[in-house]
Amino acid sequence: MALVPLGFHLAQKLAAQGRHGLLSSTVAEFDRCPPGAALLREVEILDAKTREKLCFLDKVEPQATIAEIKNLFTKTHPQWYPARQSLRLDPKGKSLKDEDILQKLPVGTTATLYFRDLGAQISWVTVFLTEYAGPLFIYLLFYFRVPFLYGHKYDFTSSRHSVVHLACICHSFHYVKRLLETLFVHRFSHGTMPLRNIFKNCTYYWGFAAWMAYYINHPLYTPPTYGAQQVKLALAIFVICQLGNFSIHMALRDLRPAGSKTRKIPYPTKNPFTWLFLLVSCPNYTYEVGSWIGFAIMTQCLPVALFSLVGFTQMTIWAKGKHRSYLKEFRDYPPLRMPIVPFLL
Ligand SMILES: NC(=O)c1ccc[n+]([C@@H]2O[C@H](COP(=O)([O-])OP(=O)(O)OC[C@H]3O[C@@H](n4cnc5c(N)ncnc54)[C@H](OP(=O)(O)O)[C@@H]3O)[C@@H](O)[C@H]2O)c1
Repeated sequence: MALVPLGFHLAQKLAAQGRHGLLSSTVAEFDRCPPGAALLREVEILDAKTREKLCFLDKVEPQATIAEIKNLFTKTHPQWYPARQSLRLDPKGKSLKDEDILQKLPVGTTATLYFRDLGAQISWVTVFLTEYAGPLFIYLLFYFRVPFLYGHKYDFTSSRHSVVHLACICHSFHYVKRLLETLFVHRFSHGTMPLRNIFKNCTYYWGFAAWMAYYINHPLYTPPTYGAQQVKLALAIFVICQLGNFSIHMALRDLRPAGSKTRKIPYPTKNPFTWLFLLVSCPNYTYEVGSWIGFAIMTQCLPVALFSLVGFTQMTIWAKGKHRSYLKEFRDYPPLRMPIVPFLL
């Protein structure tokens, strides 16, 4: 146990009374501690917005991690469970990492940390499952033409165009793959995300899935201009990009031992699909956009093209952020790499 409970109870008392005058009694208590205890630290936690003192912890071991400090803070403020807490050295600065160690931070014997409430949290796995199961299910409602979508006479009818059936297979495959990857491949470093994001993300994924599915499965849908040739080319693009995306996810998984949060520079492996790492930092996004471009060519449907464009824009923003972090974190980061599009972007 890296923290001293006696000191914590005293700190609780102090925080509850919130009077600086009582600090001297903490020091007196501190002075009576056995030799060696003098190395122990004090941590005060202030509200980042109001600067109100929320908690005072004395006799914190120097090797205590931010995660352990969060656990102690939760004891006095149970409404702010650890995943909801952001602790910073500066009220407007970056959140400290859970694994950061108190004595390695640029603080004196009394560390002042600023607290921000991140809001209610929900686990990443739940988020991804909700986001991805929605489009899968919604698309199939349109594919099977359930009542009230296209008019009574079309209920449970089937399209006469083979490309419509192929599109349904590709769309379903894509989301089943993502669900399985979320459950069995990805090793996320953050356990949770703010609950409010799920509403935004579900609106995006579910809304676009319904819009695309409505047109592709519409009884008046017309197949692509260049017929079978266009569909075959599009299918080839889609399949290659799906394989590529999966290969990158496996390569990223192999960078991180189970249960750890290690981040390393990803490099190409023996699998040729990972060779795109030579040119871009986030080839999984490159392949993801490629899959949607393939799907857009296959269906020749405007909402699919728009979904690809919006997805590309969002993933470019994320890829640029990740690329910047790699450059900051690793001095020997390969200079040829771009964030998402080789040589361009
Ligand atoms: N269609 C769309 O609009 C859309 C949008 C976004 C994503 N997606 C799809 O969803 C997939 C996952 O998205 P994402 O944003 O979570 O991808 P990501 O940030 O590349 O992460 C994928 C997994 O790899 C881990 N990882 C990334 N870089 C790592 C490194 N250097 N060392 C060790 N582990 C590392 C991540 O862990 P951390 O938890 O530490 O990040 C995460 O578990 C994408 O590849 C894409 O196929 C689609």
